[in-house]
Amino acid sequence: MLLATRGTNHSGALSDTAGRLGKEQWRIFVRRALFSIIMYYAMGVSAVKIALAADHGGFRLKNEIKLFLEQRGHEILDCGCDCADSVDYPDYAVPAAQAVLDGRCARAILVCGTGIGMSIAANKMSDIRCALVHDTFSAKATREHNDTNVLALGERVIGPGLALEIVAIWVDTPFSEDGRHARRIAKISALE
Ligand code: RB5
Repeated sequence: MLLATRGTNHSGALSDTAGRLGKEQWRIFVRRALFSIIMYYAMGVSAVKIALAADHGGFRLKNEIKLFLEQRGHEILDCGCDCADSVDYPDYAVPAAQAVLDGRCARAILVCGTGIGMSIAANKMSDIRCALVHDTFSAKATREHNDTNVLALGERVIGPGLALEIVAIWVDTPFSEDGRHARRIAKISALE
């Protein structure tokens, strides 16, 4: 399967490099798909462990999300922070995203004032796909289409009612089985 853009070299032949990259992307995709399927059935959708992190602009909403998810049966890894003292959001985004990367948590949810700083920081990390979401349509779509493993929210942007609705949809929605989405994600991985 050729995932990289097909182009011609000076002699007009298809590029070998593109072919090799395509095979590598395919291998990465198959490995990740198998891992996701095993985790999905081993842990059960409703029992996944979720990492939470916030800065001073998001800790109130983060604590509401924590209570909400615990009531729904999720185990939580709370990476802080827990007060209004000014902190730097990357210091909290990284440990939560790292917990996803090393398998301690299935997903992470990050909250700052806007969600923007947290999402930028998390997306710097290889294999993290973080979506900044403030509506329920995107919450569902980003799980189905992008297989996002991190969600970012802005406490100063939306109220807790909508935020918890987004969290529930994002946590419960599985990745689509449609191969076109997996192919696009593999192309993102190849950029890292
Ligand atoms: C903190 O004041 C604020 O900048 C932070 O919470 C976040 O909104 C950054 O993107």
